[in-house]
Amino acid sequence: MPEAIIIRDFKLEDYTALVQLWREVSLPYKPRGRDTLEKIAREILQPTAIFLVAEAKEQIIGAVLGTHDGRKGWINRLAVAPGFQGRGLGRRLIEAVEQRLDDAGIDIVACLIEDWNTVSQTVFTKCGYSRHDDIHYYSKRKNKDV
Ligand SMILES: CC(C)(COP(=O)(O)OP(=O)(O)OC[C@H]1O[C@@H](n2cnc3c(N)ncnc32)[C@H](O)[C@@H]1OP(=O)(O)O)[C@@H](O)C(=O)NCCC(=O)NCCS
Repeated sequence: MPEAIIIRDFKLEDYTALVQLWREVSLPYKPRGRDTLEKIAREILQPTAIFLVAEAKEQIIGAVLGTHDGRKGWINRLAVAPGFQGRGLGRRLIEAVEQRLDDAGIDIVACLIEDWNTVSQTVFTKCGYSRHDDIHYYSKRKNKDV
C-alpha cells in the first residue's frame, strides 16, 4: 500500500526540515535574509501566510510558501523531495495553496520562476499557469541577502 501523504500547515518546528528540503532540491533560498527562522516565524503569524508542508511517515517531503497581498496570490519555494517527485505531489501542493487563496477571495495566482528552471516552468504550465514574456521582474533590495 502506498504511504499516506498528508498536507498540513507548516509549524516552526518544521523549519530545519524545510531548509534541509530546499537544500536537497537545490532551491535557491536566503539563509541570511527572508528565510531565517526569525523572519519565517514572523511571517507565519500573518493571516495571509499559506505555508504548507507534505508529510509522510513524519518526514517532511514537500513544502510550499503561499501568500497573498489582498489582490494577488503568490506561490513561492515549491519543493518536493527527490524520491517523491513525479508523482503528483507538486501539483497537490499548488492546488492546496490555490484552494486557500480561493477561500480568501483571491482570483489570480502568480509565481516567479528563474529562467534556468525549465522543470518548474513545465510543472506550472501543466498546472494551468500562463507564461508572460512581456513582463520584467524589478526589485529593490536593502542588501544582497534579503
Ligand atoms: C517543481 C517540483 C516541486 C515538482 O514537483 P513534482 O511532485 O515532481 O511535480 P508533479 O509530479 O506534481 O508534476 C506536475 C506536472 O508536471 C509534470 N512534471 C513534473 N516534473 C517534470 C519534469 N521533470 N519534466 C517534465 N514534466 C514534469 C508532471 O508530469 C505533471 O504533469 P501532469 O499532471 O500533466 O502529468 C519538483 O520538481 C522540485 O522540487 N523541483 C526542485 C525545486 C524547484 O525548482 N521548485 C520550483 C521553484 S519555482
